[in-house]
Amino acid sequence: MQIPLVDLKAQYAKIGSEIDAAISEVIHATAFIGGPTVKRFEQNFARFCGAKHAVGCSSGTSALHLALLAAGVGPGDEVITVSHTFIATAEVVKPMGARVRFVDIDPETYTMDPAQLVAAITPKTKVILPVHIYGHPADMGPILEIARAHGITVVEDAAQAHGAKYHGRSCGALAPIATFSFYPGKNLGAYGDAGAVTCESAEQADRMNRLANHGRAEKYLHDEEGYNYRLDGLQAAILDVKLRHLESWNEERRRAARLYDERLRSVAGVSIQKPASWAEPVYHLYVIRVAERDRVLAGLREQGIDAGIHYPVPLHLQPAYRYLGIPEGSLPETERAGREVLSLPIYPEITEAQIDTVVAALKKAL
Ligand SMILES: Cc1ncc(COP(=O)(O)O)c(C=O)c1O
Repeated sequence: MQIPLVDLKAQYAKIGSEIDAAISEVIHATAFIGGPTVKRFEQNFARFCGAKHAVGCSSGTSALHLALLAAGVGPGDEVITVSHTFIATAEVVKPMGARVRFVDIDPETYTMDPAQLVAAITPKTKVILPVHIYGHPADMGPILEIARAHGITVVEDAAQAHGAKYHGRSCGALAPIATFSFYPGKNLGAYGDAGAVTCESAEQADRMNRLANHGRAEKYLHDEEGYNYRLDGLQAAILDVKLRHLESWNEERRRAARLYDERLRSVAGVSIQKPASWAEPVYHLYVIRVAERDRVLAGLREQGIDAGIHYPVPLHLQPAYRYLGIPEGSLPETERAGREVLSLPIYPEITEAQIDTVVAALKKAL
């Protein structure tokens, strides 16, 4: 049996008629850029996160750029983040004339280890950028406390954590600014590229709205140079439909994670992720650790199981970051995760029988 890592066809099979109607409405209204659909989705998404404002934009990457601009990052500044993430988290920093600094992760949550933070802070640090990787929140309490003590802004990269909670509060409303990706495979995914920034400050929301639309609030009046980072009407309409299902989809992901946990807990050679006591994860990915990970992955793929690795090469060891001169061995937990992590198929519609098949294939591969 072939089991994909993510199955977007299964989702469309369930909500196709709602999606088609929403798309048709936008086409008939010819409201392709901006307009009421975008505004409505922004309001609904802000409410979902418990955030004051949401600014729709063209991707999670443009969301990060807008967020760092709103936080005041500029030439000579430093941004502290993790190396165990997708490159987008870090890659917007250098073009802003700033420098990225990486800290190690906590081996249980795979997120920024607050104990490593203080040593990485310098007078140039402008932003601390934790990532709620795999849909498990970072330990925001101590991160925010350290940031406050040093007068530094925290921006959450919540690209993988729509609806995840930290001490009962949603990601996206934990720090003053947070960014989301709606890449199709995300827990809330568009039918193309899309993203959003959530924030507390009305001023910052206004500025990010302007920056995303060529720096203008009125048609041909530009307060500053900006970008074309707009969220389009079709994507907003699709996202608004899907947002109504997100809670139940996240619950289905938790159900799938529990089924995996029960089956894998006592399998020799596998270690499962134990969520932190304060976390309510949303399992964007279901990640285990195994030794000889590449051999196990190949064994799974031979049996038709589309497992993945998130992420095999930490950013500080990527050719793109050679210029930072960070030697191997500098971030030991990040590097160990890069060698050991393995993502098993997970999506809301995955059945118990499919999970049994994945687990049987994993045991065979081991
Ligand atoms: C942690 C993280 N940050 C940022 C991004 C960038 O999002 P996008 O692909 O929408 O630009 C992603 C998406 O893959 C991500 O996983």
